[in-house]
Amino acid sequence: MSDQAIINEVGLRDGLQNQPVTVDTDTKAQLARLLVDAGMRCLEPVSFVSPKAIPQMADAAALTPLLPHDEGLHYTALVPNLKGYQLARDAGYPTVALVLSTTDTFNQRNLNMSLEQAAQSCEAIIAAAKEDGIATRTYIAGSFACPYDGPMPVTLPQKLAARMFAAGSDEVAIADTIGAGNPQQMKDIMAPLIREFGAEKFYVHLHDTRGLAAAMAWAAADLGVRRFDASVGGLGGCPFAPGATGNMATEDLVYLLESAGLKTGIDVERLRAAVALAQQATQRPLGGRILSWMESQENQGKTPCLW
Ligand code: COA
Ligand code: ZN
Repeated sequence: MSDQAIINEVGLRDGLQNQPVTVDTDTKAQLARLLVDAGMRCLEPVSFVSPKAIPQMADAAALTPLLPHDEGLHYTALVPNLKGYQLARDAGYPTVALVLSTTDTFNQRNLNMSLEQAAQSCEAIIAAAKEDGIATRTYIAGSFACPYDGPMPVTLPQKLAARMFAAGSDEVAIADTIGAGNPQQMKDIMAPLIREFGAEKFYVHLHDTRGLAAAMAWAAADLGVRRFDASVGGLGGCPFAPGATGNMATEDLVYLLESAGLKTGIDVERLRAAVALAQQATQRPLGGRILSWMESQENQGKTPCLW
């Protein structure tokens, strides 16, 4: 099993889409710069969605050229439908993230489509992306529980993941959109999927609503998963998933993985500047547990020793 882990920073998209404050385009670009300076190589900075549904993402096309374009960076754009896909393609994104939720209700609220319509829409986007040479990652949102319909049998996200692979999705992300899962459920969902498709095909996307995101991330890592979403400072939430708090904080995920011997290439100390800017821009307190610990060490006059 590889000791290299990939963290995909979703703070600029999943994090900012749900903020009462709309962060301006230049500040978003500055935040991306600080994240890249901290070692982040994969980022999902935008979604091409209806500006009526998510006004915070209305500047997706304007932000794209302002992002850092250093060599080795990899950007993904989230797209809810074929129109969004075309906008992302025209803006030059090499990878698109698609969203398929596990229930009719959640798909209806999020995309104004039934589950079957959303699945077919994903299949159409994947087919178009194949022709255009664009990679696809399909998120199975609400894999552990639906914000509207409650707990989920493990077979449902498994079936949807298999259907998306059959359609040609390059990767699938198992998403705990409202942070309602637990590590055992993670194993129960992922182990058969990994046996069938291979761990390298999967991302996990975790919200830390009830404090189990780190345990779930580790359960996935233990099974061989090496790709994770996270959000700087734990920024986040989903406007169509009531009760969802932020994603697992990037700095806590880096600390978890690195302290367990995996390599992320991300420097927690340098992430602090990004957390500070995200905090200032959203006017809300942010920061993972590891930052509180670092601050408490500094307040005692000690230099925090992470490793
Ligand atoms: N980007 C920008 N505009 C879009 C769009 C997209 N991807 N898809 C549709 N639109 C526009 C249409 O052009 C139309 O504009 P008009 O009123 O000026 O003619 C309007 O939105 C309605 O189009 P329609 O196809 O009927 O969409 P809808 O009202 O059924 O909404 C979505 C469907 C998917 C566009 C909308 O629900 C959405 O953007 N959801 C995103 C949810 C999200 O981001 N959730 C969090 C991440 S998972
Ligand atoms: Zn999310």
